[in-house]
Amino acid sequence: MRLATLRRVALANGFVRASELRIPVEQARREVGALIFDSTIMSLNGDISCRDCHRDEFGSTDGLPNAFGAGAKGIGRERMHSGGKILPRNVLPFWGRGGKGFDTLFWDGRVRLDGERIISQFGDKPPSRDPLIVAAHLPSVEIREMVIDTPDIHERLVQEDVAGAHRLQAELARRFAGDRTIGPKLAAAYGVAPEHLTFGEVVDALAAFIRDEFRIRPTKLERFVFEQGAISKDELAGGLLFYGRGRCSACHGGPYFSDLGFHAVAFPQAGFGKNGFGVDEGRYNATLDPKDRFLFRTPPLYNVSKTAPYSHSGSVVRLEDAIVAHFDPLRLVDPAKMSARARADLYARMGPASREPLPSALSDEEVRQLVAFLRMLDFAQR
Ligand code: HEC
Ligand code: HEC
Repeated sequence: MRLATLRRVALANGFVRASELRIPVEQARREVGALIFDSTIMSLNGDISCRDCHRDEFGSTDGLPNAFGAGAKGIGRERMHSGGKILPRNVLPFWGRGGKGFDTLFWDGRVRLDGERIISQFGDKPPSRDPLIVAAHLPSVEIREMVIDTPDIHERLVQEDVAGAHRLQAELARRFAGDRTIGPKLAAAYGVAPEHLTFGEVVDALAAFIRDEFRIRPTKLERFVFEQGAISKDELAGGLLFYGRGRCSACHGGPYFSDLGFHAVAFPQAGFGKNGFGVDEGRYNATLDPKDRFLFRTPPLYNVSKTAPYSHSGSVVRLEDAIVAHFDPLRLVDPAKMSARARADLYARMGPASREPLPSALSDEEVRQLVAFLRMLDFAQR
């Protein structure tokens, strides 16, 4: 009975087989995209590649609370002490990005497909209708992420406006076209002469790689729902909580375990923040609408056991505690050790969170069962 119920509620909440979310890509483009993903050519002066922050051993993130950008060296914790610039957000993983219907990118949703229209910092001239391709245009021109704002670079290329971004990316396209390995492969994959390659082809190939490499794959949950696969008592109890009294699916519903909408959960803010030390106003940064203060895109949950630390600020290390943050954030902090300002920030974020359909107190046992269920969303094998 309970097994049948879990199957039914999973399907009713939008769970589908991995293969249904796949958008096929052209192999030649994907292959050169993989080289671009690993290449420091993408960084005008910073010597950093997409791979430096989106690594396989950390589930396509960097394993750190906040990212370390241009100038940082090494892997994982080594990056923290190597002189790089801090990017005050937790790196997002890639699972399912570029799959069917995955239309909202970044913690604050600053790239989003609204019907037919792309909403992004490119205004009414987005470089593509595909949100992943638009998003993949951003890192190379994001100051501190992949480029350092030296006076010279600022003067010549960056200036943080769209024209500056185009100039910088035209320069990157020239460098990729001139690379002995990437240039000819990219030209062949798009059937154009190397001298006619633009940044458009560079990013299209990069997106083809991300879309395919990080596509959703079959999970234990898929086997359970569609092939009568076995599950443990804890997984079953966790699943019933997820879709039932735990209210998780109110936000983490749909095929990616996210409504791709924006909600407030009062995670503690660890140190740095997008809006100054200890403050990140989330979605508000993209819309400047006061109603959006402290809202973040609901994180999809595939492979979530592999992408610690958690939340937009990376303030929570254990998956159990990431669940606790939804209904008992004060358990995760020591108010006496916080600055008055950090406490004020937490109070501010508890307001919007109190209006969300968050679960009420769950026992440690229930949190453990939820974690067992979330582990069923790990890819079965890679
Ligand atoms: C310095 C570390 C760093 C580098 C290098 C980096 N990223 Fe990221 N990436 C991040 C962080 C941090 C976020 C989350 C930022 C946010 O949402 O505000 C992110 C988010 C993303 C997202 C959004 C994912 C989602 O769930 O919406 C995409 C797509 C992405 N990065 C692609 C790339 C590509 C492509 C490259 C190389 C051109 C790259 N990144 C290089 C740190 C990095
Ligand atoms: C009101 C909507 C909502 C509900 C209900 C909800 N969540 Fe979340 N969840 C979020 C948002 C938004 C975040 C990210 C908040 C942030 O980073 O500040 C999040 C973060 C998480 C994270 C961390 C993911 C990561 O990659 O950092 C996990 C795990 C999680 N939720 C699991 C759950 C579980 C399990 C439940 C049910 C007990 C649940 N959530 C209920 C909206 C919700």
